[in-house]
Amino acid sequence: MSVRHFLRDDDLSPGEQEAVLDLAAAMKADRFAFTPLAGPRSVAVLFDKQSLRTRFSFDVGIAELGGHPIVVDTQGTHFGRGETLGDAARVLSRYVSAIVMRTFGDERLAEVAAGATVPVVNALTDGFHPCQLLADLLTVRERCGGTAGRTLAYVGDAGNNMAHSYLLAGVTAGMHVRVAGPPGYDPLPSIVSRADEIAAWTGGSTQVLRDPHEAVDGADVVATDTWTSMGQEKDGRDRLTPFWPYQINKDLLAAAAPGAVVLHCLPAHRGEEITDDVMDGPQSAVVDQAENRLHAQKALLAWLLSAGDAR
Ligand code: CP
Ligand code: NVA
Repeated sequence: MSVRHFLRDDDLSPGEQEAVLDLAAAMKADRFAFTPLAGPRSVAVLFDKQSLRTRFSFDVGIAELGGHPIVVDTQGTHFGRGETLGDAARVLSRYVSAIVMRTFGDERLAEVAAGATVPVVNALTDGFHPCQLLADLLTVRERCGGTAGRTLAYVGDAGNNMAHSYLLAGVTAGMHVRVAGPPGYDPLPSIVSRADEIAAWTGGSTQVLRDPHEAVDGADVVATDTWTSMGQEKDGRDRLTPFWPYQINKDLLAAAAPGAVVLHCLPAHRGEEITDDVMDGPQSAVVDQAENRLHAQKALLAWLLSAGDAR
């Protein structure tokens, strides 16, 4: 069997995603009982962009699995500088059992995966944030009793990594995913059509909307993300004015199903994409969601390492 990578959400089939989430729930219920990386096996965790949650949850999670995390800011290394990313990945694969990487363009991660002979995991790229979605789906399971048939509305920058991941991972979990953002901030058509293909097998669906109230209407889960993703700070676009109608505040949340769950991957810009009262209110699951990064990623690593023929 060849090495399995997790570069985007649809790298896991619906059944595989379910198996990873089941394992994550089991790992959460008995946190220190699973040590598949005992030995210890080492995992490289590489950052081209900044992080808090991803960095800590992978570092802690690998240690809890019995493994040895090697967490590196790539600016301080030769990773991809003066040699190709593929060559660097080929070498790292001789040392570690998996490579986790946060970077800019998805083509950079694809180059790493092409050279690697161990599993490569996307810890956020410009295109996707699939580890976050495993945590989000675990949170939806906990709060809503399941994912299939539930409606998730994502409002804000509907063209960013989180929007793409909600579309792909949400329909993989059988959800109805609605995304809404201002003109010029729509998801890539190729991602929407891939999500529609998956939805045809799982019973989920997608809708790309302009009106935030229409998106949130009756939804079980309401999600948002920053209006300025990492790397976009100086792109010259107005990342406030067109987004105000998409702010999650109590008026917009009132359109959702009673008791709807509020998600935000964090970091949150309070007073921009989400108000304090919603972020701190009873419907907010954002801290559980952040905790679930730990359990979901432990399960993913354990699953990937047992699924392939990696060392
Ligand atoms: N949600 C998330 O990925 O957070 P960090 O950027 O802090 O890792
Ligand atoms: N869309 C955000 C997510 C941060 C976790 C970004 O890419 O910066």
